[in-house]
Amino acid sequence: MNECSIAIVGATGAVGEVFLRIVEERDFPARSIRLCASERSVGKRLRVKGEEIEVELATPKLLSEVDFAFIAASTAVSRELAPLAAKNGAVAIDDSSAFRMEADVPLVVPEVNGEDLDGHRGIVSIPNCTTTPLVMALKPLHEQNAVRRVIASTYQSVTGTGAAARREMEEQSRAALEGRKVSAEVYPHQIAFNVLPHVEPFWENGYTNEEMKMQNETRKIMHAPNIRVSATCVRVPVAISHSEAVNVEFSEPISPGEVREILAGAAGIRLVDDPQSNVYPMPIEADGEDEVLVGRIRSDLALDNGVAMWLSCDNLRKGAALNSIQIAEEMMERGLLRR
Ligand SMILES: NC(=O)c1ccc[n+]([C@@H]2O[C@H](COP(=O)([O-])OP(=O)(O)OC[C@H]3O[C@@H](n4cnc5c(N)ncnc54)[C@H](OP(=O)(O)O)[C@@H]3O)[C@@H](O)[C@H]2O)c1
Repeated sequence: MNECSIAIVGATGAVGEVFLRIVEERDFPARSIRLCASERSVGKRLRVKGEEIEVELATPKLLSEVDFAFIAASTAVSRELAPLAAKNGAVAIDDSSAFRMEADVPLVVPEVNGEDLDGHRGIVSIPNCTTTPLVMALKPLHEQNAVRRVIASTYQSVTGTGAAARREMEEQSRAALEGRKVSAEVYPHQIAFNVLPHVEPFWENGYTNEEMKMQNETRKIMHAPNIRVSATCVRVPVAISHSEAVNVEFSEPISPGEVREILAGAAGIRLVDDPQSNVYPMPIEADGEDEVLVGRIRSDLALDNGVAMWLSCDNLRKGAALNSIQIAEEMMERGLLRR
């Protein structure tokens, strides 16, 4: 692979911290690394690949000097900086929802639809961190037996909301255990020792934005506009890794054994499925791992041609930073850079 120059925007955040770790772990071929965050963090020094790098503002000049701008800040920041990066000749790989559903922006999980990177116009989006593991499990099955509908219930960690949410859960836990007053700022209610059936704002149809993303992004990534997804997204007091209970209805009959066999050979999936020995995916096992862990595979008793399964995936790695870095690696391999 050739070398490239990169900027990580949001380097001080929950996803940003993991970006730095993965760049180091994979020895990502970056000849120059620029780290950006808000004005609050300018001048801070962060360590990457044995080097101390000072945090800067993501100016147009800086964006004109990099091949890739990995943007993991906020939707508002992405809306401003991704087009600027693209205009200045970089490829913006964006973690926010700002551009995911735009027709000319590829929404990519390399194991599922890497070919969608062809013809990109300078902005590539990654999916929401609940959609990524879902499509990774669904796509290899869909290729054998078309998926008709999916019912998914998620158990999402607090780092899905960012570093501040993790601090809030930890502080609330201490306060609750010490009998002090618990206050909530990031979420509308206490998250410690609680679950919230509420991830992102509600739509008029009663679903939340996160739940609608699971349907809309799944359809776009899998090129399957007729798949129906009904999701209930729930925030749980877990630090890292999202889990999902997934019930899938296929077009034709399929056995749990066939599902296991297909998923055993699928890229980025690890079967963790021996319930008799208490072996199944759990967020603490997925934390720090690159693969999506899948288990509890069984026939669905309520759906025709249905299979039920359970998965866990590190939302900061495959759900965010790792997926972005894999996209950049694939673009380099296939000569899809713009400079
Ligand atoms: N967390 C996940 O699991 C996950 C998964 C998929 C996608 N995403 C997306 O990834 C993005 C980052 O999420 P996160 O969880 O890492 O959030 P976070 O922990 O709140 O971090 C936000 C980062 O954005 C930086 N930032 C804020 N304003 C900025 C500005 N004006 N210019 C440049 N940088 C700015 C912050 O810098 P300061 O430290 O200086 O404030 C911080 O580094 C979001 O768009 C999110 O939707 C997150």
